[in-house]
Amino acid sequence: MGRLVVVSNRVPSSKERVQPAGGLTVGLKDAIKGEPSLWFGWSGNAQGKDDEPRPVIEEQGGTTYATIDLTPAQHKGFYQGFSNGILWPVCHYRLALMSYSREELQTYLEVNALFARVLKPLLKPDDVIWVQDYQLFTLGEALRELGVRNRIGFFLHIPFPPPGLFGALPGAEQLLRAIGRYDVIGMQTEEDARNINASFEPLGIAVRAGVFPIGIDPQSFLRDAISGGRSAQVKRFDQAVGDRPLIIGVDRLDYSKGLPERFHGFDRLLRRFPQHRGKVSFLQVAPVSRGEVQQYRRLRRELDELAGRINGDWAEMDWTPLRYITRAVPRKVLASVHRRANIGLVTPLRDGMNLVAKEYVAAQDPEDPGVLVLSRFAGAAPELPDALLVNPYDPDEIAEALDQALGMSLSERKRRWSRMHEAVTSTTAATWARDFLQVLRGAPEAA
Ligand code: ADP
Ligand code: F6P
Repeated sequence: MGRLVVVSNRVPSSKERVQPAGGLTVGLKDAIKGEPSLWFGWSGNAQGKDDEPRPVIEEQGGTTYATIDLTPAQHKGFYQGFSNGILWPVCHYRLALMSYSREELQTYLEVNALFARVLKPLLKPDDVIWVQDYQLFTLGEALRELGVRNRIGFFLHIPFPPPGLFGALPGAEQLLRAIGRYDVIGMQTEEDARNINASFEPLGIAVRAGVFPIGIDPQSFLRDAISGGRSAQVKRFDQAVGDRPLIIGVDRLDYSKGLPERFHGFDRLLRRFPQHRGKVSFLQVAPVSRGEVQQYRRLRRELDELAGRINGDWAEMDWTPLRYITRAVPRKVLASVHRRANIGLVTPLRDGMNLVAKEYVAAQDPEDPGVLVLSRFAGAAPELPDALLVNPYDPDEIAEALDQALGMSLSERKRRWSRMHEAVTSTTAATWARDFLQVLRGAPEAA
């Protein structure tokens, strides 16, 4: 069997390769375990000097990592601009946040073509290539144009919007035709697959997208949740919260995650259900992400102001209603706080999957599990109908679900949790990769 070649814009740093952070890297690390593989992508350095860089090659844990730097202009047009200022908002159904630019489309196409040129000499004839995510929609086509004949698959980690939204992008048709050149196309949910297939139809693109929901490694997250409880940081936190009920939210600081609406929902809980005042606290961990992109800076200011106002309105001398942290927190600490929390509050306005929802379920104590309050618009919602599903735009619905969760009986919590746990342990990072690669390896060879 040939090697697996994974291509993603972000490649884990050497530290993350031992303990990867984030859904894409956790899932892929499982995929490459035990088989010869090459992982190619951006080094994370945006100060590259050379338009035509040479890859830096490193071996670690049986995998070869090959990375290239981007120049400041490539980083601005490809990563900040077209990927995260145009594709990201449109794929998350936020047309009004797109900053339309044909120039940035051009840089995006050039960087995808550059990835193809640098990758091609590293390939062997029987490798299978698995391209990840929206930053690399056109990489497969660029490889084909260079004569690469290997099987090439593509997986989209984020939502795919309906044709009327995708059609508003600069170069929409060109992008769709390029995606149509992949041998296998994987989406997170049925809705995403329906949307992309509906965009293909009028163009006569024959390939159909399939559904391969990504998961986590639930056993390893549970182990972290149990062992993390011994850390000094968690012990201090436990002391500060005492035996009061705790709500937890964990997200990159991103406008797709519905954070202002969630803060309003918590505020509404305290306003409408006074019995929870002075008791329940809400810990929101939201590390800054893509801080150079304008829409993300604006969101950060909005949240700073909201958090200050909520605490100003409700705090008491001995009770802090909202704890808001914008730094990364060690994975074990997070896992153990999930286990301690009575409610996992996961309310993205749109999300490809949302692994935090699955992590919350995996971390629970089966004898006393917490309740998951989950957005209907997270990719995880169809798999987790036993969560309390809410419309994330509606602060009243969030407040009512929080109140319901805070009063839920142990037997109902156990009943809901055991069904969610079944879902989280049957679809994992490992089954996701295995299922996709089985289809890709079985696909007919390129003509
Ligand atoms: P996205 O891919 O949009 O960031 P997901 O919920 O699918 O959203 O995946 C986020 C991953 O990053 C999860 O594994 C989560 O535990 C991790 N993560 C999020 N915030 C933090 C943080 N503050 N510190 C450490 N890990 C985090
Ligand atoms: O899952 C979506 C995604 O954009 C991944 O492609 C990416 O690695 C991750 O979120 C974090 O985003 P970024 O690489 O822009 O920091």
